[in-house]
Amino acid sequence: MRLWGSRMKKEPDEEVTSFTTSVMDDYVLYPFDVWGSAAHCMMLERVGLLEGTESAAILEGLRTIMRELTEGTIDPSSHEDIHSLVESRLHELIGETAGKLHAGRSRNDQIVLDERLFLREAMVTVGHEITTLLHALLDKAVTYPKLVMPGYTHLQPAQPVLFSHHMMAYFAMFRRDAERLRDALPRVNILPLGAAALAGTNLPIDRAETARFLAFPTVQGNSMDIVADRDFILEVVGHCALAALHLSRLAEEIVLWVSPGFGFLEIDDAFTTGSSIMPQKKNPDVAELIRGKSGESVSGWLSLAVTLKGLPLTYNRDLQQDKAPMFRVMREVTDSLHLAARLVDHITLREDTIARALQEGFLTATDIAEYLVEQGIPFRKAHSLVGALVRDLASQGRTLAELRKEDLASVSEGFYEDILVFSDPAQSVERKRSYGGTAPGEVARQVQEGRMFIEREEERFAELRLQWKKSFMKIFPGEEDVMRG
Ligand code: ARG
Repeated sequence: MRLWGSRMKKEPDEEVTSFTTSVMDDYVLYPFDVWGSAAHCMMLERVGLLEGTESAAILEGLRTIMRELTEGTIDPSSHEDIHSLVESRLHELIGETAGKLHAGRSRNDQIVLDERLFLREAMVTVGHEITTLLHALLDKAVTYPKLVMPGYTHLQPAQPVLFSHHMMAYFAMFRRDAERLRDALPRVNILPLGAAALAGTNLPIDRAETARFLAFPTVQGNSMDIVADRDFILEVVGHCALAALHLSRLAEEIVLWVSPGFGFLEIDDAFTTGSSIMPQKKNPDVAELIRGKSGESVSGWLSLAVTLKGLPLTYNRDLQQDKAPMFRVMREVTDSLHLAARLVDHITLREDTIARALQEGFLTATDIAEYLVEQGIPFRKAHSLVGALVRDLASQGRTLAELRKEDLASVSEGFYEDILVFSDPAQSVERKRSYGGTAPGEVARQVQEGRMFIEREEERFAELRLQWKKSFMKIFPGEEDVMRG
């Protein structure tokens, strides 16, 4: 049956109903929808649009609905969306008074309210999972403080680096993801309710009051923008998709490093899977799926972007399509981050294989060239002298570790005996003391800064969560668990 649409003479066509219904997608927003209704009700009472007895009845009804929805005793499928479900159930529970709640609001501002309340929680969840991963990366870095390994460019052996430096590179990457989410929060954490359909309302509502009940620090300022705006979702989903892409890079390296060609890593058996036919197999499926699922996050962003493209102001029903990708990306990124952190916890380095790989690829050639620069030889000249040396060694099947004094003399008189020290990978790493380089002291600095970042970030999340929870619990005591969905 139609709840609204009093001007229509006919009931909607069945297929139209099923085509336009969104309740199975937006049902999960119920804690936020009911909370938003309660805040709106309390505001209406403050400004004199509801009697105290009316608002008490509405709030009591909303508390009952919150419990029923959590316990799953309401069948959502016969409703159009979460807003109509709550409104019609309220009617059943308290009768006519329920009809007073929808004064000064519309489903157009209600839906963005629900989405903003959902998204700020989901952002904190993702942020928390990022810090869990940061923890895991940092722990792995400090477990192997002195381990030197080949660093790669073009996937070709390039220069020796500390394994911990490599881990801290990922730390820096995911730290930026956390920072981006934090930067986006003020654009999400802002009250939309009170735009009504698009123009505002004649009624004397107090939006600042509603904002206080919902722990929003600010109120959005243009009613048309409020109901048309979805860039807050696109922005956050974009940041999450980027985090997913970062995860796919980490996952790819784990897949590479665990393959016999590299053999740098061992994954704990509990984090691997076997083959149905090949008994010898131990596959890194967790890493592969993290890599694979990143595609869905990017496609979620794309789907939202295309939904927004070319939409005229203000609300258009197209916008209903924003929820499925938003939910999917937030869930998937949360899960992938969580599993990635646990995967990092479950890897062990194969130091013997890494030590062997260090001997190949003439990794310290640049160190020798830089040594010559320190002796006053122009870098380009040094580059070609060392290039010739490498060519000779390579043609004899020898490595830089096997360099002898005679080899140096044959290339140039500019080579000095102490150059042999420079072909040692550990020495090479030790000398990379430029700010941000791979020297142990520089990595220790990154680790220290990293620890401080994690601590601050966790405090911030805890503070935000507590603030939101307190406001929610004032109206719905005992229901705090529903917030995390
Ligand atoms: N289900 C709708 C959505 O998700 C809610 C807003 C509907 N507004 C309307 N005027 N039909 O966008």
